[in-house]
Amino acid sequence: MNWEAFLVPYVQVVEELKVKLRGMRAQYEYGSEHSPIEFVTGRVKPVRSILDKVSRKLIPLDNIEKEIQDIAGVRVVCQFVDDIYTVIEMLRARNDFHIIEEKDYVSKKKDSGYRSYHMIIRYPVETISGEKQVIAEIQIRTLAMNFWATNEHSINYKYEGQIPKDLKARLKVAAEAAFNLDEEMSKIRDEVQEAQRIYRQNKNKH
Ligand code: GTP
Ligand code: MG
Repeated sequence: MNWEAFLVPYVQVVEELKVKLRGMRAQYEYGSEHSPIEFVTGRVKPVRSILDKVSRKLIPLDNIEKEIQDIAGVRVVCQFVDDIYTVIEMLRARNDFHIIEEKDYVSKKKDSGYRSYHMIIRYPVETISGEKQVIAEIQIRTLAMNFWATNEHSINYKYEGQIPKDLKARLKVAAEAAFNLDEEMSKIRDEVQEAQRIYRQNKNKH
């Protein structure tokens, strides 16, 4: 298997999606408007992780493209929970890709405490041998959800998925705290946004 060649279209998709989603943010910024997008990151799944998933889920090598849906992954991070839904609506309205599936772990968190909104998309990418449909995963979450997920991911990595019971319980408490932070921020959202709008207007003057 030539992994480098296999991953070329995925690299392309991640780069294109990052440009497009960051472009949305830039348009809001230009209009001195609150951007529902705080920042965007993206990555192509390392070959090591692809192979781990292949053996964990017993995926035949021929089915990788279909069955591993997060080889191309982008993450949209928002300030407020409501922004997640704004982003979802904007993504649904786009014509440059097709949404295959949506998973709402925002209103229904996972057992671990994980919260995020996932969209699995089919994205057409131009290659030198014609158009290729590539599957990608877009994760949409707040800064608080991202903070939690990043830390939990590190812990999970350290314990190879076998997090000790007490630590698991602590992570659930932390997830609860992140959720409460999001709730509190939503309540003072108007104040925060007004302050940020004034700040941006002044910045654009100079
Ligand atoms: P995988 O979890 O990727 O094997 O696929 P799945 O079909 O179970 O999809 P799911 O939506 O559960 O997870 C997709 C991605 O969401 C993962 O690759 C992670 O990036 C993220 N994710 C899901 N659950 C958790 C979690 O409990 N903690 C953290 N930190 N991330 C999670
Ligand atoms: Mg999973």
